[in-house]
Amino acid sequence: MMSDQELYILSYYRACELSGSILFGKLAFHTTIGEYRIPLTEHCLEEAEHAWRWTKVIKDLGRIPVKVTETYQTEYGKLFGMPENTLEIFCLTQVFEKRTLNQFTKHLNLPDTNPLVKEALQKMIDDETGHIGWIREELDKYARENGQGKLDAIMQKLEKMDEEVYDKLSNTEPFKTYFKDLL
Ligand SMILES: [Fe+2]
Ligand SMILES: [Fe+2]
Repeated sequence: MMSDQELYILSYYRACELSGSILFGKLAFHTTIGEYRIPLTEHCLEEAEHAWRWTKVIKDLGRIPVKVTETYQTEYGKLFGMPENTLEIFCLTQVFEKRTLNQFTKHLNLPDTNPLVKEALQKMIDDETGHIGWIREELDKYARENGQGKLDAIMQKLEKMDEEVYDKLSNTEPFKTYFKDLL
């Protein structure tokens, strides 16, 4: 049986994946750019699969996911507001996926993690690498057309914001205690 601490952390991951899936589903639904329709739908599917994967891990370890209302993306929203265009969404996603990759790698390095959790982390690390890939290509295209400087400026601003959000999360329980040996 997993601890309440671990249950909350995995439920938090689940909520963030679900929130990502809902966002990409909406984008796939509304986009007027034909060439985005396929990758956005696939991205929506994979985030939904991730949400299900965490749900299943929690279930298989004998618990029920807890309700998490404030996700990582909620914190972005507070600092950044609503993204106004595709570029901002792609940049935010890029920063978020990098953070996710970082966090899952960190989690994988914790001693005594259940093999089911480890397996899920590894699978998601592989998928998130793909997500970063397709968005990277779109951002590179943007930079070629509009100048690298403009893109770098947005990314720098968002990375700073992400540091702030991550700092806050790392200092909040149960994250603070659970990951203390790695900080
Ligand atoms: Fe994901
Ligand atoms: Fe992702």
